[in-house]
Amino acid sequence: MLQAIKYNDGSLEILDQLQLPFVQKYIAIRSAEDGWHAIKDMKVRGAPAIAIVAMLALSSELHSLRVAKTLPEAPEEARTLIVSKLDYLVTSRPTAVNLSDAAHKLEAIVTNKAKEAAATGLGVVAAFVEAAEHMLGQDLDDNQRIGHHGAEWIMAHATETGNVAVLTHCNTGSLATSGYGTALGVIRSLKSKDVLRRAYCTETRPYNQGSRLTAFELVHDEIPATLITDSMAGALLADTSVGLNAIVVGADRVAANGDTANKIGTYGLAVLAKHHGVKFLVAAPRTTIDLATKSGKDIVIEQRSSSEVTSIKGPRDGTGTTDGVILETVQIAAPGISVWNPAFDITPAVLIDGIITEVGVVEKGSDGHFHMADVFNDST
Ligand code: MRU
Repeated sequence: MLQAIKYNDGSLEILDQLQLPFVQKYIAIRSAEDGWHAIKDMKVRGAPAIAIVAMLALSSELHSLRVAKTLPEAPEEARTLIVSKLDYLVTSRPTAVNLSDAAHKLEAIVTNKAKEAAATGLGVVAAFVEAAEHMLGQDLDDNQRIGHHGAEWIMAHATETGNVAVLTHCNTGSLATSGYGTALGVIRSLKSKDVLRRAYCTETRPYNQGSRLTAFELVHDEIPATLITDSMAGALLADTSVGLNAIVVGADRVAANGDTANKIGTYGLAVLAKHHGVKFLVAAPRTTIDLATKSGKDIVIEQRSSSEVTSIKGPRDGTGTTDGVILETVQIAAPGISVWNPAFDITPAVLIDGIITEVGVVEKGSDGHFHMADVFNDST
């Protein structure tokens, strides 16, 4: 299986996703600052992956400080150091809640540890590192459960079981998580159950997570798949010979009412699904569900550089080398045009048929609304 994140005892490496699909090259992340830049620059992306990389980047820095014997001895000082780095890490990207959720949870762990009567600086750091390392394995486990629940739900709602076609958007696979993936995990699970006729993936302009990353994973795992441009989705849904059963996407933040922030273009796909009577599903772990955010109106949408729209990046000579590729930026839009580039959009809950989580598929109540707070509370 493709691995976006490699971590072993304080040593962290990530697959540089800017170089995919041309070259598979791992880069070392040794500090919170390295982690911040890797996230900001999109070397790693996807809601679960950025949270895990941020926490492990700090673990890696703390590991080096411990080896150099420069960790603060006082527990409160160790806590302050960790919290200041967490505050910095959450500024890297604003929309995906997984990062701030992880930072809050790990802050609570170190705060409690620092209050213990026999607390030491080393003990506070060890508690942080243990919790960060746990996230990696937990995410993989959650994704496998999401895949299973999603596949079962789609099969149960398909008229022709054993012959399912699905469309996905952006990248939600092994590269966006600790492994297996969320929406792409559902596709993997359908394939492993031998019921997948075909997966379709969108190019996902402007950053092409679909054509660069999802397509790469689908080819890598030999999943029967077809790439379309974003503008072809309507025609695909209208084509009865395709017989699409469901659209499955990931999420960067699911609000308490089920409104979902995900990669730009998701909302349009949900509108198309409704028009064509195709099921529209969001696949996300519990850590992406933000009960503190009431609705989509409260979600901050990251605006990105206009150059992502006006130009494309590719390898200079069309091929890669084992050392990496030199990416060249080519202007494709008329110089001088102004650009709007929101990285995400909000899909209103009314357009979503189910939210696939590691504990099952959450559906709307008889009142037509999602009640996420009844399913999830702080102890889940
Ligand atoms: O801007 P990106 O590449 O980080 O956006 C990624 C997405 O929108 C994914 O669909 C989402 O994070 C879910 S990842 C399992």
